[in-house]
Amino acid sequence: MKFFVDTADVPAIAELNDLGMVDGVTTNPSLIKKSGRDILEVTKEICDLVDGPVSAEVTATDAETMIAEGRKLVEIAENIAVKVPLTWDGLKACKALSDDGHMVNVTLCFSANQALLAAKAGATFISPFIGRLDDINLDGLDLIADIRTIYDNYGYETEILAASIRTVNHISECAKIGADVITAPPAVIQSMVKHPLTDKGLDAFLADIKSAGISIL
Ligand code: E4P
Repeated sequence: MKFFVDTADVPAIAELNDLGMVDGVTTNPSLIKKSGRDILEVTKEICDLVDGPVSAEVTATDAETMIAEGRKLVEIAENIAVKVPLTWDGLKACKALSDDGHMVNVTLCFSANQALLAAKAGATFISPFIGRLDDINLDGLDLIADIRTIYDNYGYETEILAASIRTVNHISECAKIGADVITAPPAVIQSMVKHPLTDKGLDAFLADIKSAGISIL
């Protein structure tokens, strides 16, 4: 399973990238706003840092302007994936940009039917939002499983990019279901390392190292 980092925070991306944890990056207007940076400038910096796809989201809502914005975004770097919303106009933009040979990430997906439309429009990635479904007492992971079944039934090559990840359990469950990619904030990826038994076990080993005077170097 590929790991994308859901942030426009360049130092945070760089730290995870150095560990080999970054297969791509996703941004959205809220993350760009949080970074306080110019969208074109920060996106270029991220593209220079990371080899994999970097999603940059359009700002328009009509297909024609989305396509024009997408064509400008892909000039930033070869690894740009244009992110468009899951609307009828977004699907039109997806079809046009993917026909041009560009990667397209269709975002704000909340149903299996939406995911089916995105695949038919040639999306490279579909981004179902797990956390936001959980927020309204639905099960975001059920949506990932439904899309996996549908795409496998018909051999769609669109990759399932599980988004709006809030917990480490979202990540392991997505891996079990077979999502192609997860995108998560750096803090969630980093907290995957935590386990109380690891801490407890290490404390015991450290105590024995100290009391026995064990040394290697
Ligand atoms: C990624 O592409 C999405 O924009 C992001 O995962 C949304 O996450 P949120 O629901 O926590 O804002």
